[in-house]
Amino acid sequence: MRILVTGGAGFIGSHSGEKLISEGHDVTIIDDLSSGKKENIPERANFIEGDITEFDFENFLKKEKFDRIIHFAAQIDVRKSVADPLFDLRINVEGLIRLLQSASKNGVGKIVFISSAGVMYGDTDKPADESVAPVPVSPYGVSKLAGEHYLTAYKNNFGLDFTILRFTNVYGPRQDPHGEAGVVAIFAQQMISKKQSALYGHGKLQRDYVFVKDVVKAVVKSLDSGSGEKYNISTSVATSVFELYELMKKHFEDLPDPLFLDTRPGELKRSVASFEKARKELSWSPETSLEDGIAETISFFKGKRR
Ligand SMILES: NC(=O)c1ccc[n+]([C@@H]2O[C@H](COP(=O)([O-])OP(=O)(O)OC[C@H]3O[C@@H](n4cnc5c(N)ncnc54)[C@H](O)[C@@H]3O)[C@@H](O)[C@H]2O)c1
Repeated sequence: MRILVTGGAGFIGSHSGEKLISEGHDVTIIDDLSSGKKENIPERANFIEGDITEFDFENFLKKEKFDRIIHFAAQIDVRKSVADPLFDLRINVEGLIRLLQSASKNGVGKIVFISSAGVMYGDTDKPADESVAPVPVSPYGVSKLAGEHYLTAYKNNFGLDFTILRFTNVYGPRQDPHGEAGVVAIFAQQMISKKQSALYGHGKLQRDYVFVKDVVKAVVKSLDSGSGEKYNISTSVATSVFELYELMKKHFEDLPDPLFLDTRPGELKRSVASFEKARKELSWSPETSLEDGIAETISFFKGKRR
């Protein structure tokens, strides 16, 4: 298939591009390199440096005739969305609408939209499934939910097919340790340079960590399955920040003790999502244990440092 991957120079988008190419697809990436990196772009991908809020999708999609679009490009920083909601809106909503508007007129078979489980479900005492009513509290969450609704609107009005994948906390090689997301990447970098790590919520906050190489398998499954549906892509397992820290610590020696700090404003206590629907309908399940995924991620970051 001919596939356009937006945000394909980023963390998850680049792993997805790589996987799609390895499965024989013809992949084109568009990315403005605002957080993505040239070095992440898979060798055999066509690359266009462009901003989805300005790019001429109209002529491009008419000419290129893509079978699928996987939409990763986004402003992903929750705090930034609170500080500058219009910036978030422009990239996450306007950018998507520009893409949908052109895709719906130019024979694109389906758009796979990358959404977020954490921002939809809020605090969860048991793994949330897709029937839980979304309660986004940040502009980032609102923009992701708006994106999901726009997909329904474009399917209803123009027949443009879609699948929504709601990821929980994705971790793995190439994740940017400098952003707000990505505690695994942040800890890895701190541990490599023997810096003290801060454990917010006194290490008790729980998250559902899913390995990037499992996530990209769900992206591949969604190319031909899950028409008009949304799926959590998760592990259903809650891991506390302290447990994560201890697991990662085993790969290092002589680390300073971590700092235990209060929960920061807006942080969820427990965020876990059920992947039961993806298991049943996409035949997808996470395959990588947290231990193995962490080991691979740490060896990536250690290698980078050398
Ligand atoms: N990382 C996670 O845990 C997680 C969880 C849930 C959902 N997601 C979603 O997955 C997607 C990918 O996230 P990621 O973690 O790989 O982040 P990332 O920042 O590595 O990837 C985003 C990519 O989009 C590009 N981009 C940003 N604005 C753009 C614009 N205006 N035009 C073109 N390209 C632009 C960036 O340069 C970057 O390469 C995002 O949509 C994010 O919301 C991520």
